[in-house]
Amino acid sequence: MQFEVWSKGLPQLDVDCVVAGVFDDPELTPEARALDAACSGRIKALLTRGDFSGRMGETQLVTDLNGIRAGRVLLVGLGSAKGYNRKTWRRALGHAISATLRTRIRSIALALERPGARELDDYYFARCVAEIAGSALYRVNDLKTGKKPPAAVLERIVAGPVRGAAAAAAERGFRHGRALALAMGVQRDLANLPANVCTPSYLAEQARKLARSHTSVKVQVLDEAAIRRLKMGCLLAVTQGSAQPPRFIVLEHRGGRASQAPVVLAGKGITFDSGGISLKDPPGMDEMKFDMSGAAAVLAALTFAAEVRLPLRLVGLIAACENMPGGRAVKPGDIVTSASGQSVEILNTDAEGRLVLSDALHYARRFEPAAVIDIATLTGACVVALGSHHTGVMGNDEALAAELVAAGRRADDRAWQLPLTEEYGEQLKSNFADFANVGGREGGAITAAAFLSKFTQGLKWVHLDIAGTAYQGGAHKGSTGRPTPLLSDFLLHRAGQA
Ligand code: BES
Ligand code: MN
Ligand code: ZN
Repeated sequence: MQFEVWSKGLPQLDVDCVVAGVFDDPELTPEARALDAACSGRIKALLTRGDFSGRMGETQLVTDLNGIRAGRVLLVGLGSAKGYNRKTWRRALGHAISATLRTRIRSIALALERPGARELDDYYFARCVAEIAGSALYRVNDLKTGKKPPAAVLERIVAGPVRGAAAAAAERGFRHGRALALAMGVQRDLANLPANVCTPSYLAEQARKLARSHTSVKVQVLDEAAIRRLKMGCLLAVTQGSAQPPRFIVLEHRGGRASQAPVVLAGKGITFDSGGISLKDPPGMDEMKFDMSGAAAVLAALTFAAEVRLPLRLVGLIAACENMPGGRAVKPGDIVTSASGQSVEILNTDAEGRLVLSDALHYARRFEPAAVIDIATLTGACVVALGSHHTGVMGNDEALAAELVAAGRRADDRAWQLPLTEEYGEQLKSNFADFANVGGREGGAITAAAFLSKFTQGLKWVHLDIAGTAYQGGAHKGSTGRPTPLLSDFLLHRAGQA
């Protein structure tokens, strides 16, 4: 896909179709007014007849208007002018792109009313256009054998209005938005794959592939013997019931000075979470193939960093294994020793994410990181608390937590902080080990984070619980690509690029 900007002369642009926004009131937007004037009032006439109401999501294709160079005009409803903001603009844009993808239109000029610069500056305007267009082109990587629908033909988007002086900011926005859509596609493809395809070894192979295709990315894959040498007793306890060998994956994007303290991302890579001996209920258990979404987000973030050549040192850690029941599986009451040396009583084998992450977080220390962020579909309790709207944010560094929440707001990939105060850690008391891996029903999302905090003392650390946001169930079952927009925006800001 090719992106450009337009600044004036909308009726004369050389494209297949002009996409114009229309509010649900009689006042035309400046863009629609310019088109209407060029075609001697034909658009106004159509609206006066009541054939198009301007409702959000409504679209109407009009062809061959005299005076407009493009052979087609696509009217797109923007809803009410009063509530119009960045969010409604994004929705309208999504509808507009979907409508053009159902046609044979190859090039469009986008002329939706732009929200005010405070809501959406030129950089974010362009970035959102490229992100939304790229995401709309995403096709689920299903394994259906029937005929695939024809590929989309849209190949060029001219967006505006963007004043001449802002062209450079828009250009940067297009580049970042394109990389973001690509990275979200990487995450979604990986997470959507079934667990019999996307195994720990498969994740390792994808990490190697990433390193092969980007010179800035280095990879190291640790097998079970290497994991044993690192004394990652918690990760080994989770994997021991599975026939699939575990992998611990270390990626690095070398975009900054080698002496620069890196940002470390650590992803939960449970390729299937049956619950283990503390077996889950059958309904919806298939969705536990998405339990490696944190790992997929790490691969996506590295893809993004490499694609935009982010001037930043970034390390990605992935703790990958399956959580299965069986004769060799870890049992409730078993006590294991983590890589940090602390002992853990495993009271519930279904609380496995925090176990594999604890060893990954301890491994992060060796990089003397500037910040450590773990990403995990960690708790059902977080879904109860925040639903699927916000990613849960918890950590030991208020500034870092605020940075991530702000990135989520800018990227329209929202996150909300929960209070990780000392009291929650007390719920993890064990009679037989340093602590237990569960802390009871109350505050379940936070006690999980409290467990992780035992392994991050002295580090600047934030935990992202994406159990509610990383994928959807039901009729639209599939990965959402979140929190890749949030993480990418965070990294861009850290590197001074946005
Ligand atoms: N992967 C699950 C968390 C999860 C649940 C993600 C629902 C997405 C949707 C995690 O490993 C888990 O099983 N957590 C338990 C923890 C409990 C045993 C303390 C949970 O949330 O029930
Ligand atoms: Mn579990
Ligand atoms: Zn899990």
